Order: sequence, then C-alpha cells, then structure tokens
Amino acid sequence: MGQGSSDHGTWNRNRSNNTLDQPGCALARKNHYVELVVDQGTSAPGGETAPGPPQDRLGRPLRSLRLSVTDRCNLRCRYCMPETDYQWLPRGELLDFDELSRLIDRFCEVGVSRVRVTGGEPLLRRGLSKLIERIAAKPPIRDVAMTTNGLLLRQQATALQEAGVARLTVSLDTLQPKRFEALTRRDALAEVLAGIRAASRAGFACESGPTAPGLARLKIDTVVMQGINEDELCPLLDFAAEVSAELRFIEYMDVGGATRWSADGVVTRAAILAAIEQQLGTPTPLPGRGAAPAERFALPDGRTFGVVASMTEPFCQACDRSRLTSDGFWYQCLYAQSGIDLKTPLRGGASDGELTALVDHCWRKRSDHGAEDRASLEKRDTLVPAAALRGNPHLEMHTRGG
Ligand code: 5AD
Ligand code: SF4
Repeated sequence: MGQGSSDHGTWNRNRSNNTLDQPGCALARKNHYVELVVDQGTSAPGGETAPGPPQDRLGRPLRSLRLSVTDRCNLRCRYCMPETDYQWLPRGELLDFDELSRLIDRFCEVGVSRVRVTGGEPLLRRGLSKLIERIAAKPPIRDVAMTTNGLLLRQQATALQEAGVARLTVSLDTLQPKRFEALTRRDALAEVLAGIRAASRAGFACESGPTAPGLARLKIDTVVMQGINEDELCPLLDFAAEVSAELRFIEYMDVGGATRWSADGVVTRAAILAAIEQQLGTPTPLPGRGAAPAERFALPDGRTFGVVASMTEPFCQACDRSRLTSDGFWYQCLYAQSGIDLKTPLRGGASDGELTALVDHCWRKRSDHGAEDRASLEKRDTLVPAAALRGNPHLEMHTRGG
C-alpha cells in the first residue's frame, strides 16, 4: 500500500503492547486524507456496506455504550483491584469532553441509544455533570445511566439527576463496616450508605417498584463471594427495599483485575436463588428480560431483585453492548484481550464520516462471545495474571468499566 503502509504503522503504534486492534479495522492515512481499509468479505455483495444499523456476525445490533470516563478509583475492591500497585493510563492520553462527545456521536450513528457512564469511579472525573448534560441532550440517546461506588454520591446525586442521569447503579457488597474495609481497603461504608440514601431522595428511587423490566432507576449491585458476603443476601435485600432500590446479585467473574479469582469463590445463580428461597420463599421469574444482563425475580412479599449469572449462564447471544475506555480504546467484549484504537484516528485528523465508517465496519466484524468461551473451558483460572495486567492497563476492569 506504499505511502499508506508506513502511515498505517503510525495508526497502529500500540500494537507492541497488545492494546490494538482487530485485523481489518485499521485506518490508513495518506497525505491529507484518511481511508478506511476494509477486509474482503465484510461488505455486502457488490462491495457496498449493507445499509442500516450494523449487526455483527452473530446478528447482534450495537445499542448500548459503556463509557469509562476515568481509570482511577477511590476504592480497591477485592474482585477488581486486589493488587498493591497499579499502572494508570497517562493523564495526557485521556480524551477530553469534546473528544468523548464526538466519539459518542459516531456510536449513535451506528445504533447506540443508551450510554452508561462508568470508571474506575466516574465521580472522580472533574466536571462530569457537564459531560452528562451533553450526552443526555443528544437526540438519539434515550437513556443515560451510571455505575458508581457511591463514595462521592452524597455530594453529587442531585447534580447528576439534574444533568440527565436517568438510572443509577451503586456497588455495595456488604453492610458491615469492618467487612467493607476488608473488601475495599477503605473505611467508608457510612459514606456509601449516605450516598445511596441521597440518591434515593434526589429522585432515583423506584417509587412503587420498577415499572419497566430491567430499567429500575436505582439499583444496587452486589458481587456475591463464597466465604466473604454470601451470608448477607437478605440484609442487603432489606436495605435495598428501605431505599427503594432494586438489588442485583452478581456472580464473581474472572475478568480483568480479578487476580484472586478462583472457581471456589463463585456463588452461583442457583445457590443464590436457593439461599433466598430458604429464607424468603420461592422467587418467581419475571418476563421481559430482553438484552438485559440481569434475570429478574419477584419474592412472595412483592419485592423484586435481579441475578447476573455471567459465569454459569452467560448471555453473549443477546449482547448489544460495547465499552469505550477514557483514552479512546473500544472493547467489544468484556473478555477481549485487545481493543480498537479510536483515539489515534480521532486525534490524527479523521473526519466524522471516516470514524463512523470505522465503528460500523468493526462492529460488523465482531464475532466474540467471551463469557461463553470461558464457560466452556474444562478448567478455569484467572483470566489475566497480575504480571500481564501490570504491563497493560487496558486489560483491567477499572479501565474498561465494570
Ligand atoms: N466480578 C463481578 N463483577 C465485577 N465488577 C468488577 N469486577 C468484577 C468481578 N470480578 C463489577 C461489580 C462492580 C462494578 C463496578 O463492576 O459489579 O460493582
Ligand atoms: Fe471497586 Fe468499582 Fe473501584 Fe473496581 S472500579 S475498585 S469495582 S469501586
């Protein structure tokens, strides 16, 4: 490709640390313009790309974008950041709000209508409400949600609500202060509980239980771990009811930074349901799950809760989600070992049309189903060893969004 080949090397400069990219998803730069390099076999017959929102090779549309606005976090949850030291993304690499907004517009053009803001801890990103206002004002966006650890929520809940966050998910794995400190390395349970209460008062509460399936306005996510918090399912359900939130129990996953993961630590969906049944009666499955990761259940007393069984019942077939890191790398699967570098073309002069074509093209090529692949392994161990994580912050869950 002559001139294009050498510049191609520039676009792909992160190849050495394994942070880029999927074959055929490279933009080649030629003098003053950028051209999309499209593999044969991914276009429609006749060489044209099929019209309409793209579907990937498994027929999945792209509807939901998880936007990590920072890789920094003010907690060190055992299932996410158990190591002593971390390698952070260089600050200069972070996309500013104009750049993030421009990329979100490109994702909207290929079908995204829902954005979930994540981290690290998203509330550490300065001026976040301004970004949320911009996202919520985009006509294609029907839903802006956020996942937070709640530590800074007391101060920010009202601003988030006013900026346009429609749904809030707060991580909370225990109601015991000492346990919280052991799990997160910070004595901060009281602040998190105050944050959840503030969010409930600020208008995120589900007044009479969630009306739309899977779309509760205030959710609490609990990763259930054997020997750590599996005895707190009912107290957590009670707390959720008290603050008008819907609780979701999450199976402990072998993703990114879960370097202490072992199969013994997982409390399965079946075990969670059995424990709840024993104490509170039989949970009835609720219909209308769609592409939501959580299966929802109702208790005999009318309370509802969810279970996210990514380990024992992966739901890759219905996955319409993608992840964008705060430095502009796009991960199509939670388990993906490499991402697509959107920052280099973004900062290198690619036009909006070229960026949209790149996103469209790469989604059409997607075929991964990482959770199902992992579930089919005979022996399952930590996905990425700590040494490999140290060499590549993009592999961390706190970089690509929990
Ligand atoms: N297993 C399950 N969920 C995880 N999260 C992060 N790491 C893991 C893991 N190993 C999710 C949790 C947390 C959110 C930020 O990311 O739900 O609440
Ligand atoms: Fe915990 Fe979330 Fe921070 Fe990870 S990113 S350490 S899960 S609060």
